[in-house]
Amino acid sequence: MASSSSSSSSHYFTFKHTFIFHILPLIFLTIPTQPAIGCYTSILGFGDSLTDTGNYLHYSISNSLTLPNYAYLPYGETYFQRPTGRCCDGRPIIDYIAQNLGLGLAPPYLGNGENNSSVNFEEGVNFAVVGASTMNAAFYREMGIENQYENFSLGVQLGWFKEMLPSLCANASSDCNKLLESSLVLMGTIGGNDYDHTLTAGISLEEVESFVPVVVNTIASTINELIELGVVTLMVPGIIPLGCTAANLAYYTNSTAEDYDPKTGCLTWLNKLSEYHNELLQIELNRIRQLHPHTTISYADYYNAAMPLYLSPAKFGFTEGALTACCGGGGPYNYNSSVSCGSPTVTSCDDPSLYVNWDGLHYTEAAAKWISEGLLFGPYTIPPLNTSCVSVAVTAESSNYD
Ligand SMILES: *[C@@H]1O[C@H](CO)[C@@H](O)[C@H](O)[C@H]1NC(C)=O
Ligand SMILES: *[C@@H]1O[C@H](CO)[C@@H](O)[C@H](O)[C@H]1NC(C)=O
Ligand SMILES: *[C@@H]1O[C@H](CO)[C@@H](O)[C@H](O)[C@H]1NC(C)=O
Ligand SMILES: *[C@@H]1O[C@H](CO)[C@@H](O)[C@H](O)[C@H]1NC(C)=O
Ligand SMILES: *[C@@H]1O[C@H](CO)[C@@H](O)[C@H](O)[C@H]1NC(C)=O
Ligand SMILES: *[C@@H]1O[C@H](CO)[C@@H](O)[C@H](O)[C@H]1NC(C)=O
Ligand SMILES: *[C@@H]1O[C@H](CO)[C@@H](O)[C@H](O)[C@H]1NC(C)=O
Repeated sequence: MASSSSSSSSHYFTFKHTFIFHILPLIFLTIPTQPAIGCYTSILGFGDSLTDTGNYLHYSISNSLTLPNYAYLPYGETYFQRPTGRCCDGRPIIDYIAQNLGLGLAPPYLGNGENNSSVNFEEGVNFAVVGASTMNAAFYREMGIENQYENFSLGVQLGWFKEMLPSLCANASSDCNKLLESSLVLMGTIGGNDYDHTLTAGISLEEVESFVPVVVNTIASTINELIELGVVTLMVPGIIPLGCTAANLAYYTNSTAEDYDPKTGCLTWLNKLSEYHNELLQIELNRIRQLHPHTTISYADYYNAAMPLYLSPAKFGFTEGALTACCGGGGPYNYNSSVSCGSPTVTSCDDPSLYVNWDGLHYTEAAAKWISEGLLFGPYTIPPLNTSCVSVAVTAESSNYD
């Protein structure tokens, strides 16, 4: 991450003030309770590094770029026993959702099949890319920020989907409408990089807060476009508690005691930014539901699904705590942006399942599993997905999530 001149604590009070102002309208929302239709035949993923299943890795290989740190072990060690381009020791949330719905793991859109064989997108395709932001490069260039991942904004990902649609439909056993009707779209998580990248580039919290509505509207218009193309079921994640990532905790070294939530050790002002985004997103989703009553748009509350892990990590088996990274270059949270997990000098913990945080920025497979179960079988997907097609074994295994 780049160096920053923004002082987090000085903006905290102004932000808190506006946050309370913005949170109020949600009380008047009607939260739908009808479960979404089950038995999906494919999953379509959009988002950033929390969802990418290999797009950026394949992009860097095809363009002969320096391979990213997650192109190396220990990435992938827990489940795949090799790096796949996922920013995880194993399966991120999208993989758990796919498997729980009885689907294969959604292959990356930019990926070659194993041994360059043609990829089978029948059970899904993933457009999510590491580093992706909602807003495009032009938006950030106006703020004076050059984005290394400029070519992967949400609009670009939507463009890929549109480009691919004729071929997806041509291969479908039924018609295109049926294909899209029976697909589940996972629209995110996206937005975290819009905030993380700007804050660390020195943009003030007030300014970042001021463009949250623009980010949320961009997500909303992407959803509207997908609905116009024929998608009817979407799971739309909010953003995670940004104030709880080892990377942010390690970065904002100027924080004072009152910046930290005493119950979790997370940065309160950053978590409030996540909550603010998530409140606006839910208001926008409600608007879309009213415009398109035939659709089922579920809000996937990643923030609150993850929060129990930060509040009582040991209860979930995370005896090494929720804030320190398993794999990282040392320091108080075992995160150092100049020595990333995957570099030869970095040692990883022996047992990632004892950690919530994998590499400073992303969840371990063990944490992703809990979060996914909270989403699929707990209260954190609103309205809940119809999981009638989920295997009994999986449901029983997960019934202890609260
Ligand atoms: C911490 O404060 C110093 C002095 O105000 C400033 O130069 C530095 O950029 C700040 N660091 C962060 C991470 O905000
Ligand atoms: C869930 O989906 C199944 C299969 O499509 C359907 O039979 C069932 O009625 C649905 N359940 C609810 C509560 O909508
Ligand atoms: C890819 O190549 C390896 C080594 O030749 C082989 O073991 C493996 O089965 C191949 N995979 C596929 C999907 O063909
Ligand atoms: C796949 O194709 C790329 C580019 O043509 C090539 O460099 C690579 O060696 C191939 N991989 C395999 C396993 O054949
Ligand atoms: C983005 O794509 C354009 C056009 O293909 C290319 O010129 C540019 O170098 C790319 N930017 C980055 C950061 O890869
Ligand atoms: C459609 O089928 C063709 C031929 O089997 C294959 O090459 C192509 O990759 C498939 N497209 C998709 C999107 O699955
Ligand atoms: C991060 O790692 C670099 C390179 O080893 C080192 O110079 C630096 O002091 C480390 N930073 C922290 C905060 O530990």
